[in-house]
Order: sequence, then structure tokens, then C-alpha cells
Amino acid sequence: MLAAEITPIAKVGGLGDVAGSLPQALYQLGADIRLCLPFYGSIDTKKYKVKKVAGEITIAINGKKNQASVWQTFLPGTRIPVYLIKNIFFDCQEIYRGCKIMKNNRYVDDANDLERFSFFMQASLEAVKKIGFKPDIIHLNDWHTALVPQLIKSPENKIFFKNTKTIYTIHNLANQGITKENILKFANLDSGSPLIKTDSENGDINFMVQGILGADAVTTVSPTYAKEIMTAQTGAGLEKILKMRGNDLYGILNGVDTVFFNPLKDKLIKQNYSLKTLDKKVANKLFLQKKLGLPENKDIPMVGFIARFVWQKGIDLINGTFSGLKCQFVFLGTGDKKYEDSLKALAKKYPSQFSAQIKFDARLAQEIYAGSDIFIIPSRFEPCGLTQMIAMRYGAVPVVRSTGGLADTVDESVGFVFKKFTSRALYVAIKKAVDGHRNKKKWRAMQVRGMKKNFSWESSAKKYLDIYKKLTNN
Ligand code: GLC
Repeated sequence: MLAAEITPIAKVGGLGDVAGSLPQALYQLGADIRLCLPFYGSIDTKKYKVKKVAGEITIAINGKKNQASVWQTFLPGTRIPVYLIKNIFFDCQEIYRGCKIMKNNRYVDDANDLERFSFFMQASLEAVKKIGFKPDIIHLNDWHTALVPQLIKSPENKIFFKNTKTIYTIHNLANQGITKENILKFANLDSGSPLIKTDSENGDINFMVQGILGADAVTTVSPTYAKEIMTAQTGAGLEKILKMRGNDLYGILNGVDTVFFNPLKDKLIKQNYSLKTLDKKVANKLFLQKKLGLPENKDIPMVGFIARFVWQKGIDLINGTFSGLKCQFVFLGTGDKKYEDSLKALAKKYPSQFSAQIKFDARLAQEIYAGSDIFIIPSRFEPCGLTQMIAMRYGAVPVVRSTGGLADTVDESVGFVFKKFTSRALYVAIKKAVDGHRNKKKWRAMQVRGMKKNFSWESSAKKYLDIYKKLTNN
């Protein structure tokens, strides 16, 4: 399996969580799964006991030879190897956005992500060849890995990967990886192949298109999103080609890491609790209020929000009128400056009600799940969404917009659902939750139903395994 992020080794969002947890479930089901990840400069080599496993591999870039080396760690707590591709392309701290490198005594944006990840894909294939691991299946995730179906057909690769099938999982159609045709030379792709020809008709190469049309099977991360992406509204311009793949397109709901996300065992939270000791949860709220500098009051509902701050997530729906709700809000994340600024402004104006935590903070995230009564996910679209499931495991009641995986995981028995993408609709839904919070008995019953829901990977991993088996006829 190839991915640009693998939690906890390198994470930005849900993609990393999936690539870090689905493999464990597949391993449990008997798959010999191994992962490939770029060796980012931010990876803690001591903590993950990273070791070199293979010397230099050679990858041609624009026809010129370039070296990389292969290192290895294990997915923490497992025997699942994670191969790390080391090259100057990844020596930076960031996972995305290219990296600045020193040139003529100045930092310049030398590498863009399309080139970096093209390199990653080529190098990953060289790495498994060098290690001698011939996969039956290569499982790809999002555009960063989407050229692989094409790359394994190249003259250097086609013999080794003769019997290898590919499966491409779409985590988010909003990021497609679109670039100019010069990437073909960069990545040694055959401009004459039918797939490249179709893709480049408009003068662009779209990595997402390569994955969708090139892979033997295509999946996405919830049944509802699988349907939505075949429509113009959510298809992001690719609805036609997705429809073409309709027979090989599967919507498989993500799971969450139920060992990590367990309020009874979570080492990052103040007070552990379970279904049986739910009364103890309130200690986490009081702790969180204190930590954030909000008034400490066990009766006032705490509303949590954790996300990448991007257009998709509906942050623009939240405004000053929400101060009219009798609750406190905490927002955690980073992303587009305008969203960071608008939330900071709210926190400044209403310091006793809003807290804007503009950072990536894994501990605070857990403290928010544990300390929140209500958790909001007002997304424009949401391929799956993991935070609503985690929130429910922690007894925080979700308020979600009915879209994608949110529609598949939250209904009125466990949360509050709104349809229209408007501030008003979100406001009304939160108000319902805030009012509902007063009815202790009903609220408790709702929390309990959410906590009892099964969000483990087991059944979804079986679905992936079924596709693997179908593709390899065994
Ligand atoms: C992306 C999507 C999110 C999904 C995650 C994992 O981050 O935006 O909805 O849960 O990928 O598949």
C-alpha cells in the first residue's frame, strides 16, 4: 500500500489515519501487507527505530539518474513493515506544498508536490523490486500514488509486476493533482499510451484521472460519497469517468482505530471513562475549559470542532451570531489563513465562548473529544469523515450535515443532522443539540447509542480483501 501519510508516523488528516489503521485490520485477516511512505524530514527516526534496508536505488528524472535509499520501520505496535523512501525531495518538514531547498544561497520552491510524489511512486516500485517483494495487489490512495497503474506497465517494470493488480482509493476528489504534460518526461511515462492520450487531450495531466481509469478497481470511502461523485454536483468534473468505472467502483466505509480511540484506555486524556462510567466524562470538560481559559462550568455544553481548515469543512458557516447559543466552542486545526483569522477574530470578540486553537496538536484533539458534549461537522461535502465516529466513541454527540460519509454514520438516533448548507441550518441544528443537552435522560440515551456503534475496521477490511481476491482470482 502506498500513501502520502501514515498515522502516527506522518499525518495531516484522515488519509493518514486510514493508511495507518486499515493495514492492521488487513494483516489480522491474513494479508502480508507492507507500506511505502516518503521519508519526510519530520519523521522521528529514533522513536520509530528507522533502519536502512536497501542501498541505493536509481530513478530516472527527465532522463537523468537520481538516487534514493530505502529505509524501514514498522507500523507502531505491529509487524507491518513501512518502507521509507529517502531522497532530498522529502528532506523537508512538510508533507505537502513542496519544499524549499537551498539554491545559490537562497531558499527557493524548487520541487512541487506533483514531482515529489511522482518520484515517490517510481522509487516505491524500485524499492519493492530491490527488496524482492512481489505484491499481488498494490493499493493506492489519492492522487499522490495514482500513476502507479501506468508506471507498472513501463518496460522496466512490466516483467516484475506482470501479475500485480492495482486498486485505487479516492479519499477526496477535491485534490486531483493536475499538472502540465512535462510531468510525463519527468516520470518516464509513455506519452503514446491510450490512457495518457485520453488524459492529456486538454493539455493537462490529471493524476486522479490516471488512478480512476488506470486501476483494476476503484474504491471510495463511503457508500453515499460513491454515489455522489457520479453526479455533477460532487463529481468535481470527473463524474463522467467515474460513471464509466461504475461497475468497478465500490463505496467502503472507513473504520477508525478502536484501540487508539478508546476513552477507557486513552493515555492523552485527563479522566478515563467508559459506557459504564460516563458520569466521569465531565471531569474532562472542566479540565478542557480550564486549559482553554473558558469559564469552568459543568452545565454549559461544550461544542468541539477539529479539522483541516479548508473550504470543504464549512468553517465559513460559523459567525458571530453563534454567540447567541448557550454553549462554548473550541476549534482546533490549521489551514487556510482566512479561516484561521475568522475563528481567531471570534475568539477575540467572545473570549468566554469561543476558543480558537490554531495548531496541529494530537493531545488537545483527544482532550476535545473527551471534553465535548457536542461535536460539529458542517461540511460542504465529506467523503467519509472520521471525527464524527471518534466523537461518538467518546460520548460527544455529533451535529453533521447530511452528506457523504456523515450521512452514512450519523442519524437522529445518535446525533443531529441538517441538510441545507447555510449558517442558519447549522445554527438551528446546534440549538437543537444545546436544548437537547438539558434533558439528561434522553441525552444519555443518545450518547450511549453512539458509543455502542461499531466503527471498527473489521467488516470494511473484509470488503477490501474480497476485492483483492476478486482481482487476483483467489
Ligand atoms: C479525506 C476526506 C475525509 C476522509 C479521509 C479518509 O481526508 O476529506 O472525509 O474521512 O480522507 O478517507
